[in-house]
Amino acid sequence: MDRLKLDWTHLTADAVGPDHGITEAELEALREPSAAALRAVRARAEQDLRFQTLPYDLETHGRIAEYAEAQRGRFENIVVLGIGGSALGNRALHTAMHSPFHELFPGEGLPRLFVLDNVDPDLIGEFLDRVDPSTCLFNVISKSGSTAETMSQFLVFRRALIERLGEEAHVEHVVVTTDARTGVLRPIVEEAGYASFEVPDGVGGRFSVLSPVGLVSSALIGIDTLGLLKGAAHMDERCRTEDLLENPALLYAAAQTLMQREKGKPIAVTFAYGHRLRHLADWYAQLVAESIGKRLDRAGREVFTGPTPVRAVGVTDQHSQVQLYVEGPHDKWFTLLAIDQPDHQVAIPTDFTDRDALAYLGGRGMGELFHAEREGTRIALTEAGRPNLTLSFPRVTEHTLGQYLYLMELAVAVMGEHYGIDAFDQPGVEAGKVAAYALMGREGYEARRAEIEAARSQRTPRVCG
Ligand code: PA5
Repeated sequence: MDRLKLDWTHLTADAVGPDHGITEAELEALREPSAAALRAVRARAEQDLRFQTLPYDLETHGRIAEYAEAQRGRFENIVVLGIGGSALGNRALHTAMHSPFHELFPGEGLPRLFVLDNVDPDLIGEFLDRVDPSTCLFNVISKSGSTAETMSQFLVFRRALIERLGEEAHVEHVVVTTDARTGVLRPIVEEAGYASFEVPDGVGGRFSVLSPVGLVSSALIGIDTLGLLKGAAHMDERCRTEDLLENPALLYAAAQTLMQREKGKPIAVTFAYGHRLRHLADWYAQLVAESIGKRLDRAGREVFTGPTPVRAVGVTDQHSQVQLYVEGPHDKWFTLLAIDQPDHQVAIPTDFTDRDALAYLGGRGMGELFHAEREGTRIALTEAGRPNLTLSFPRVTEHTLGQYLYLMELAVAVMGEHYGIDAFDQPGVEAGKVAAYALMGREGYEARRAEIEAARSQRTPRVCG
C-alpha cells in the first residue's frame, strides 16, 4: 500500500547547523509534551474534535454515494458556493485528482467543477454571463448558514435558476450542505425541499473536508470518496502511537513548533512540487493560519502567535521565490511536497545534440528533470542553512490524499496544544464578518456601524491619486 513518507533529515542541526536545525535535545524536550498533546486531542474525538471520526462515517458516505449516483449524467457543471473551509478542500481534491485541463475537456462524462469562493462581481457576473444555470448543480456549502459571501451567491444563483427553470424545477439544481439545526439555510432547505447533507456537530469548517463539505462535490465529479476515507483512516491508525518519531502528525507539529519557538522562523513555506498538489498548499495555509494565528492563549494572555503560511509551486517559483528563500532572511522553514511516481512520462527529444545547452536534456524524461530540480532546490536550501522537510506521495491517489488531509488536520490540532491556544475558533474572522454586516446595514449591527463611522470621521484621509 502507498504510504506517505515524511523525511525530516534536512530539518536537523546535523544538516543545517544548530542555529537553524533541530537538535536532539530540543526534540527530546518535546517528546512528553507531544504525547500529552496527542492524548488531549484524542480525548475530544467524540466531542468538539470530531474530525477524527470522519474517516469512519461510512453511513454518511453511503448516502453521498447514492445521491451522486442518482445525479450522474444530469449536469454539465457542479458549482460550489462556499468559502474558506467550505471551499478550499473541494478545490484541492479536484485539482489533485483531475486533469489541469478538465474544465476545457471534461472527459468520461464527468461534469466540470467550479468553486466560486468570492463575491467579486467580475467573477460572479462573468459566470452568470457565460454559463447557463440549467446546466449546473449548485452545491451551497455553509456550516453556519450565515456567511454573507455564500448566502449572497445562493440568492443570486437561486434567482437565476428560478428565472430560467421556474420555482418548482429549480429545486433539483441545488444541494445544500449545512448544520443540522442552526443557521438560516436549514429551514430554507426544509421549505424548498432541496437535497441536503449535514456538517456534523463538532467538526469545524477548516477540519471538514472529509465530511459532506468536501465529499459531496468530490463524489459528483467522480472522485473515489471511499478511497479518501480509507486513506484518512490509515493515517489515523498510523498516528495512534505516542512515540514522537513514529507518529507523522506529532513530528510535523513538533517541527512547526520548534521552528517558530526555538529557531525564530515565523514563516512556513509549503513548496508543492506537483502542479496537482498546489491547492493542497492553499488548503493547508488556511488550516494552519486560522487555527494557530491567535491573539490570546488559553489563559487569556496576549501572545500574538502563529506561523505565516506561504505557498509556492515547484518548479514555477524557483524562478520567482527561491532567490529569497536561499539568500534572504533566515525566517522560514520549508515543507516540500513531492510525488514519487507521476502519472505521465514525457520524453525529451534528442535534438540539437551539437549544442551543449540542450544535448544533456535529450533522451531524458521530463519527470527526471522535475525530480532533479526539486532535489536541486532541496540541496540549495540545505547548503544555505534553510531547514526543510520532504513529504512524499508515492503516487497521487485518493488514498494518499486522504492520508495527507488527515495528517495535517491532526498535526494542526496538536500544534494548538504546543502553542497553548484554541485552534478551533476564529475570532479574527468573526470580527471582519461583523464589520461587513454593519457596513451592509444588517439589522442588529447598527451600533457597530456607528463605531466604524465615528472612527472613520476622526481619521485624516491620506490618499495618493
Ligand atoms: O474554518 C472555518 O471555520 C472558516 O474558514 C469557515 O469555513 C468559513 O468562514 C466559512 O464558514 P461557513 O461554512 O459557516 O459559511
